[in-house]
Amino acid sequence: MLVTWLLFVANMLLTLKRYYNSNTLIFSKVYIWMWLTGMFFFLLTFLESYLWLFSFFSNNLVRDITVQWKASGAMVGSWNMLVYGTAFYVMEKMSGDEKVATSKMTFFFYFLGLTNLMFNWGHHTYIVPASPWIRDIAYVISMTELLILGNIIWGWRKTVSSATKTFHLMPYRFFTASDVWIFINLILAIAISVPFINRFTHGTHITVAHAMGTTIGINTFILFASVFYLLRLPEGTTSLKYIKAGFWTLNVSLLIFWVSLIASGVTKTIELSNGGTFASAMQKMLPYFYSFFIAGIGIFAGILLIAIPALISCIQNVRQNRLVSIQSVA
Ligand code: HEM
Repeated sequence: MLVTWLLFVANMLLTLKRYYNSNTLIFSKVYIWMWLTGMFFFLLTFLESYLWLFSFFSNNLVRDITVQWKASGAMVGSWNMLVYGTAFYVMEKMSGDEKVATSKMTFFFYFLGLTNLMFNWGHHTYIVPASPWIRDIAYVISMTELLILGNIIWGWRKTVSSATKTFHLMPYRFFTASDVWIFINLILAIAISVPFINRFTHGTHITVAHAMGTTIGINTFILFASVFYLLRLPEGTTSLKYIKAGFWTLNVSLLIFWVSLIASGVTKTIELSNGGTFASAMQKMLPYFYSFFIAGIGIFAGILLIAIPALISCIQNVRQNRLVSIQSVA
């Protein structure tokens, strides 16, 4: 993995150097910074996650868990930088509006994301008896995400009106869905980052709802949007019909899946807080496990309905040399 990543970094840096030689303004684009920080921090956190090889870390359980979660927490931030950078890039290329990727507001949120990447990881280890300042910093930094939530609510009218105009285009459709999932997941993420609430949600399916809701609803959708930007499927093709069906199947199933996980987590917390046993909690959670299972099949079917036509179209495009070339980033 390390070698692969180093090759990716080298490829990216050499490509950027080529563009920089013809246009020094590329560094005014937020996505260039997001890609660079994402690449660098992934490398750093990946190496950090192997510190357990040294006895200084592995001989001390608290230190080991803290460092492991520091690495894993920041790694999520790193890949998010890469994914969101790609989203900015695709949106700029599709809309032709270069202002968004260079605006002060966008850079403010980039730095907010970077601060969270570096300092919010302590919210994974609230129950670990490490130094209290790790917890305090993580709590305060996690709460800065409220600004992102506020910004979404502030601009929702604009978002809705532009989404209704562009929803028929496949990449925008996936971006719109990811916007909705960002909103829903952010509320849950901020809630479980409050130490008092985390005491009850940690170790329950609520954490799983957060983990899967974000990775599928946000990141996967953004990556699908980028794939459809590259493929540029013409209107009216059969593939599009399958993809549209997959889109709705995936979204509805994910919602049922997410709600089932939260319901299981809440049930477990209530049962255990009232003196119930693990076995009795599992019994009460059973109905939600069924809906979770059925919705899981729906998610799988939805992803197949989207991914298979995309893959077939990708192979056809490569054969006919029709893929959108990665255009100048400048
Ligand atoms: C797209 C964005 C995000 C992704 C993909 C993501 C992913 C994850 C994953 C996979 C876990 C589970 C770790 C495990 O226990 O195995 C997790 C846990 C957690 N995340 Fe996120 N996360 C995202 C954003 C956020 C944000 C913005 C916050 C806070 C404001 C946050 C707060 C938390 C907390 C508090 C936990 C730990 C819950 C616990 O173990 O009790 N996450 N996240």
